[in-house]
Amino acid sequence: MNVVQGLKCRECGREVAVGPVHVCEFCFGPLEVVYDHDRQRRVVTREAITAGPPSLWRYADLLPVLPGATPQERVDLGAGFTPLVPAPRLGAALGLRDLWLKNDTLNPTNSFKDRVVSVALSAARRLGMTTAACASTGNLAQSVAAHAAGSGMDSCVLIPADLEEAKVMATAVYGTRLVAVDGNYDDVNRLCGEIASEDDDWGFVNVNLRPYYAEGSKTIGFEIAEQLGWRLPAHVVAPMASGSMLVKIDKAFREFTQLGLVDDAPWRISGAQATGCSPIATAFKSGVDAIRPVRPDTVAKSLAIGDPADGYYALDVVHRTGGAMEDVSDPEIAEAILLLARTEGVFAETAGGVTVAVLAKLAAAGKIDPDERTVAVISGHGLKTLPVLQGRATPTHTIVPTLDAFHSALAIQEVHA
Ligand SMILES: Cc1ncc(COP(=O)(O)O)c(C=O)c1O
Ligand SMILES: [Zn+2]
Repeated sequence: MNVVQGLKCRECGREVAVGPVHVCEFCFGPLEVVYDHDRQRRVVTREAITAGPPSLWRYADLLPVLPGATPQERVDLGAGFTPLVPAPRLGAALGLRDLWLKNDTLNPTNSFKDRVVSVALSAARRLGMTTAACASTGNLAQSVAAHAAGSGMDSCVLIPADLEEAKVMATAVYGTRLVAVDGNYDDVNRLCGEIASEDDDWGFVNVNLRPYYAEGSKTIGFEIAEQLGWRLPAHVVAPMASGSMLVKIDKAFREFTQLGLVDDAPWRISGAQATGCSPIATAFKSGVDAIRPVRPDTVAKSLAIGDPADGYYALDVVHRTGGAMEDVSDPEIAEAILLLARTEGVFAETAGGVTVAVLAKLAAAGKIDPDERTVAVISGHGLKTLPVLQGRATPTHTIVPTLDAFHSALAIQEVHA
């Protein structure tokens, strides 16, 4: 069943045919996918979704599956349908009585990027592209390399040269051509735009495939609503780099409401950034619409986009839904990673630390109602960014191998406790 009608400019509304294009020829606005809503209303039901695979592809009829595409030719490592878990101990620490975590650390390459990559590369194949590529702040690199390897596509991944070692190794392992660029993400992204305009066979997931790629993030919102028993949460707190994921969670809730899959109820969406790269949160807090690009300087490298493509749309969503934005310092990020791990057993990378630290800040400021159902999106795994815990996560005791030494070490701790 094909539900995709074409692409449409988000600014001037002009429509174009499906293809490897991402900006409007008339006004240079970003393009997005247009669906046949009547057809969707006929085929998308709770029952049909529930009968689908335990992955993001259970929502295939709400995604940019291109004409003629078959499930067999999907680029699919099993991304999505990650756990949504209650977080009572973290909630108690923050004064929130109905807190949940969307644990996207449990995707195939341990970040939410597997969702957008699976959707983008499935479209790329259909468009006849042979090389999977991206500009990455780290997680996207791993995901593109893995999905390309797992589907037999060629790949080439461009990263800023100063990326975390774990992310570099966890990308190189898949045998991709890995190009480290002496510059920041915004430099890498600009270079990728230039390469993409040279060669039609190259599918840059977040450049010329961006309209398809971005739609993959809707599945976080779909899953949250389905996993809450076909109900919308009252509040979602999401991390922002380009701002795309946050915008697409809102779009997911709107689509579920319009299709009658959930009751119409208000929701709020709040955005989280690191202070060292907070162009969107800064614009929000200053009450302006213009986003001033910044030069990133933060441990949260996965969120280090100084000139965010969807920043303006993220501001709009947060204003429209009555949410808020905040930013947090590098030490606050590390503390929040520890707090989350110690209260809920979930180990997040720096982006998750940003989300939890901002959640705490918003709760303390009364911007989250203690009783409202709140979901924090934990978007990447902690093993990716171990160095931020240097000196903060160490053995609590070091002893010689005797029973006496063991007992006295623990006894000393009890006296101090
Ligand atoms: C772990 C993680 N969380 C969140 C984000 C933010 O994504 P977006 O660019 O859609 O705002 C990224 C982006 O790279 C990421 O790697
Ligand atoms: Zn336009």
